[in-house]
Amino acid sequence: MDNRILIFDTTLRDGEQSPGASMNPAEKLRLAVQLEKLGVDIIEAGFPAASEGDFDAVSKIAKKLERTEIAGLARTSKEDIDRAWGAIQHAAKPRIHIFIATSDIHLEYKLKMSRDEIIQATVDAVRYAKSLTQNVEFSAEDGSRSDRDFLCKVFEAAIGVGATTINLPDTVGYAVPEEFTDLVKYVIAHTPNLNEAVLSVHCHNDLGLATSNTIAALNAGARQAEVTINGIGERAGNTSLEEVIMALHTRPNYFPLSTGIKTDQIYPSSRLVSMITGIMVQPNKAIVGANAFSHEAGIHQDGVLKNPMTYEIMKPETIGLSTNKLVLGKHSGRHALRSRLKEIGYDLSDEELKIVFKKFKELSDKKKHLVDEDLEVIVAESILRTKDIFQLEYLHVTSGTTVLPMASVQLLINGRSVQGAGYGNGPIDAVFENIAKLAGTESELLRFSVSAITGGTDAQGEVTVRLKENGLIALGKGADPDIITASAKAYINGLNRMEYLKAHPAKDSVVL
Ligand code: KIV
Ligand code: ZN
Repeated sequence: MDNRILIFDTTLRDGEQSPGASMNPAEKLRLAVQLEKLGVDIIEAGFPAASEGDFDAVSKIAKKLERTEIAGLARTSKEDIDRAWGAIQHAAKPRIHIFIATSDIHLEYKLKMSRDEIIQATVDAVRYAKSLTQNVEFSAEDGSRSDRDFLCKVFEAAIGVGATTINLPDTVGYAVPEEFTDLVKYVIAHTPNLNEAVLSVHCHNDLGLATSNTIAALNAGARQAEVTINGIGERAGNTSLEEVIMALHTRPNYFPLSTGIKTDQIYPSSRLVSMITGIMVQPNKAIVGANAFSHEAGIHQDGVLKNPMTYEIMKPETIGLSTNKLVLGKHSGRHALRSRLKEIGYDLSDEELKIVFKKFKELSDKKKHLVDEDLEVIVAESILRTKDIFQLEYLHVTSGTTVLPMASVQLLINGRSVQGAGYGNGPIDAVFENIAKLAGTESELLRFSVSAITGGTDAQGEVTVRLKENGLIALGKGADPDIITASAKAYINGLNRMEYLKAHPAKDSVVL
């Protein structure tokens, strides 16, 4: 059996289904470019029938990338398949990904279809997609909870009309590794034409077993893994790309399997995803969490100093985590900035560099040493964002132990300057109250959190806010050495994202 595993990244589709993780087309394109650099084999760029925004982003990605396969998701309807094809047809390597549920519970309560109808819908959809492209993937949603023989029959039917990849999802994260191993082996043994297709798995993390189940399935013979960066996704998320890759990489004797992933692009990809989506990585997250390579206990530190392999099973450099943190300062020029940005994955145009260089100079006036994370924030804030409706022009805050916290704020709203001033329970409350009044927003602030991007008292504070309005959730992110300014930036970013969501609604009928 071929030991090469295909990595199918669905950060832009299933990952984007994390509450609040919506990304605009420019951000999706930037992430897709990074995923290609990371070396994934297939990028699921979106679900084109879901919204105009999704269609637009998928087609932009399809037109831009040259090496990676671009998949567009579709239900079994002709309209969905046409929409997916419309968005990906210009890709160098397009793939239509069709799904329908196969478990009895989904058939009875969600689809209200019989098993025969599911087989017919599968055959019609795959056959139609096959008339558009050679490369068709079929997924049996809730496959892990489906009747095994029926599942194999559906797979056989899909391959019979040309499906080239067959995907077995653990949609609700219910499977456990031994059982999933057994299911994969059963599918291999009881789907007579399976040798004509690649067997894929797609796991969710509801029981914290997504990585284990995925690896178990690869060991049992699956040859494609569907994953997301940082494990983002619906509910508890999807299988983490970085966890699967580093398990294979770190235990090659146990897993004699190879992939095309360039491991030193893992950390830059992780940073980019959290920067763009506003979803922070938990500090103790395997591989990419802030504590993944830090040793607190004295006995560990002592061992690591004597020989890193005493307590480190992986080297930070392997995932692209630079140990040489100090990069640039006030006197660094445009050329040094360009080359460092290129090293960390941002190949900017002259126009973009001009904007970033200006922000870089402003920040280096406030902060002596700028590290990679500072540069990433500048790029995210200055060139990745959509044309903002609300922009912060001016902020002045008075606060302390003997005065009532007061803020005056000036915003640019669609090019028009507006100002306001007022008191609050604290300086951040005063700022938010004023911004909310000026923006006329009805969004409710659900969450506010602050963390430091780097060490030291001049570190940039990174603020994340979570807003809710009419069932829509938007995350906002802002960074600045001054945490009150960072908070204002995050709140304004959240309001801009909310406006984007309101202007690009997903179709009501599309529920995955
Ligand atoms: O979890 C799932 O079943 C899915 C399918 C659309 C593949 O995301
Ligand atoms: Zn999924």
